[in-house]
Amino acid sequence: MDAALLDPLLEFLRFPSVSTDPAFAGEVQACAQWLKERFSRMGLEAAIHPTGGHPVVLARNAHLPGRRTVLIYGHYDVQPADPVALWTTPPFEPRVEGGVLFARGSSDNKGQIMAHILGVEQTLREKGELPVNLIFLVEGEEEIGSPHLEAFLQEHREALRPDVIVISDTGMAGPGLPALTYALRGLMGMEIRLHAGGSDLHSGTYGGMVPNPATLLARLVASLHDAEFRVTVPGFYDSVRPLADWEREAWATLPVSEEGLKAEAQVHALFGEAGYTPLERAWARPTLEINGIGGGYQGEGTKTVIPREAFAKITCRLVPDQTPTEIEAKVRAYLERICPPEVRLEIISGHGGDTFVCDPQSADALAAQRAVKAVWGREAALVRAGGSIPILTTFRRILGADILLLGLANPDCAAHAPDENFVLENYEAGVRLNRALLEELAG
Ligand code: BES
Ligand code: MN
Repeated sequence: MDAALLDPLLEFLRFPSVSTDPAFAGEVQACAQWLKERFSRMGLEAAIHPTGGHPVVLARNAHLPGRRTVLIYGHYDVQPADPVALWTTPPFEPRVEGGVLFARGSSDNKGQIMAHILGVEQTLREKGELPVNLIFLVEGEEEIGSPHLEAFLQEHREALRPDVIVISDTGMAGPGLPALTYALRGLMGMEIRLHAGGSDLHSGTYGGMVPNPATLLARLVASLHDAEFRVTVPGFYDSVRPLADWEREAWATLPVSEEGLKAEAQVHALFGEAGYTPLERAWARPTLEINGIGGGYQGEGTKTVIPREAFAKITCRLVPDQTPTEIEAKVRAYLERICPPEVRLEIISGHGGDTFVCDPQSADALAAQRAVKAVWGREAALVRAGGSIPILTTFRRILGADILLLGLANPDCAAHAPDENFVLENYEAGVRLNRALLEELAG
């Protein structure tokens, strides 16, 4: 691959811009600074905006009246690299092997946003100007739920005012299979704690006499699903929009097999709610997952103890038209009802995020599909995705523009995991997609 394309991405990836860990705050700031300088060198007007958390980097060309305004959003922060020992090579020393680039942030999201940046750079170099009024908004807090972005958008709404928002922070439908993602799941997180009393107890002296919160917690979380693996929380599915026939039919034609999914996820078997295919379950059905569970002795050997408390961290992935508020209330009410009175239940609210859905046949979505066809020589698959980008509905509410999700990552990109990677063919296609897309969106 052309060094002019690869080198800037390698530089970008060498910043360990981990947003969740305060120890990396200096690196996050340095990464923002680097990005701002890159935008300036391309001839864009660029600035770093403090937010109270990690900064937002904004860049724009000279806006002309009568042209459409396109806002391209991405994030320069990354997930922690842990467990570092499971990486083949160090996460912040990017490595290319067999056309694949390995590094933390390569797919999520530095590689994807850099494809857009370089597309714009090429157009500016060749033509001296862009077909649209362009704004890049690259934030540093996506991986921690964008806590300062809403206030930032409110404050800058007059200066931003896009006609359409473009985001490449999702995936392709498969290798070489471009996709337009028209829906994402939402999120509702909580932690539940069961407290038995004041102290850990000798399990010989007290076993059989007092409640064991770890045992009761196991029963509690086990009663959140039935035998068909449907969520048992009353009313959980009430506001779920049923799958449309066209969705089921379109997804059934995707080259996705159960064997392929097992290999990609490195699992022995697939599992989930009865009556739906794996893609339907991950894209269009809500879930309730235990993300962490604990309590009591976790060390070597045996310890005869009755723990004084036990906990579980839970998230639900939500689908249209569920809301985090509705689902949190329903899960809380159910847990409070079924929790045995011998232990005290404590529920701590966590991350939330709205679901997202847009019309894949809108004028801009059709323009995006034409751009995809021009680049890959095939139609974009219309897909949903199981992940969440909670800020999308905030964008739509505050900026009043619709959103095009044009992901470049392969399904096996290992986002958030060891050996995260980005296929260079997708990167190069992303640069061309940016160019075709801005032409198409110019109208
Ligand atoms: N890019 C992902 C969201 C995503 C994942 C979209 C898979 C499509 C397919 C994003 O960076 C992310 O990881 N979001 C978090 C939510 C956030 C509140 C931590 C997620 O989905 O867990
Ligand atoms: Mn992510």
